[in-house]
Amino acid sequence: MKRQAFLRLTGLAAAAAFSSCKPSETGSHAAIGTPGGKTVVGFSQIGADNPWRTAETESIKSEAAKRGIELKFSDAQGQQEAQISAIRSFIAQSVSAIILAPKVETGWDAILKEAKAAKIPVILVDRGVSVTDPSLFVTLIASDFVAEGRMAGEWLAQQTSGKAGIVQLEGTTGAAPANDRKKGFEAAIAAHPDMKVLASQTGDFKRSDGKNVMEALIKAHGAAITAVYAHNDDMAIGAIQALEAAGRQPGKDVTVVSIDGMGFAFEAIKEGKLNCTVECNPLLGPMAFDVIAKVLRGEAVPKQLVQEDRLFDATNAPAELPNRKY
Ligand code: AHR
Repeated sequence: MKRQAFLRLTGLAAAAAFSSCKPSETGSHAAIGTPGGKTVVGFSQIGADNPWRTAETESIKSEAAKRGIELKFSDAQGQQEAQISAIRSFIAQSVSAIILAPKVETGWDAILKEAKAAKIPVILVDRGVSVTDPSLFVTLIASDFVAEGRMAGEWLAQQTSGKAGIVQLEGTTGAAPANDRKKGFEAAIAAHPDMKVLASQTGDFKRSDGKNVMEALIKAHGAAITAVYAHNDDMAIGAIQALEAAGRQPGKDVTVVSIDGMGFAFEAIKEGKLNCTVECNPLLGPMAFDVIAKVLRGEAVPKQLVQEDRLFDATNAPAELPNRKY
């Protein structure tokens, strides 16, 4: 549990609304739930289009298996509508709980009301939602994306002595990490008038899109680009490929900073092509099932569980590389 130093943000007892739904057994690692049968949990995942997301899926699947919980898994292939259909299907199957990694922040009220009416607790993992009634979900287990963006911005300001022509590669439009990482980063550089965001475009958290967008922005801004801030490591690697193809030297004449802390980002730091990554832990399975166990026992859980994320650059990444689990 080394990296799972979760902080209690609020002490709200979200379980109360769901405490009558399913019986339970003792012990947070016990298979709890339906009378005379296995606990069945539905997991609606956004997709599998980057290694971070695959690592999260694997964490949730393996933790369910470890605890003897039957997991109904749905990959929405990037479509919010498919996530909504999956949740509706989980409700129809009377699952004990639902884990949702929501693609975007908005558009969840109606389906979460259906889950609540069916007394099925919904646990959000990795991304938050914007809903009119916070009791529509039990808890959010995620990183503080604003803080991640701020860490990246402060690091870049320090490294560039407050002077940079920046390309920002944003995550999926409307997704909590894209909104918040932008907010945190832009707040951090606001105090530095010579740090200018030349362009800010979505690369949809994908390596290929990061590369394509970067190619276009190199054509538009050329040598004025001295820094790249990518909302995830995958887009940063795509940008590095585009910079190299254009004859630039990422890591040297263009400072590249990103978020996620994937193993391949640590390799890129070692090679001197990526300068910094702020971690965002995808291994949320153990926390998610601990929360579900509590909720099904009728125990209170905090409304939000926030992970502490660390920043890595050439000074500390090499020592951490052998420990990376994703
Ligand atoms: O919600 C977390 C973000 O989503 C990760 O940074 C990114 O890689 C993923 O797609």
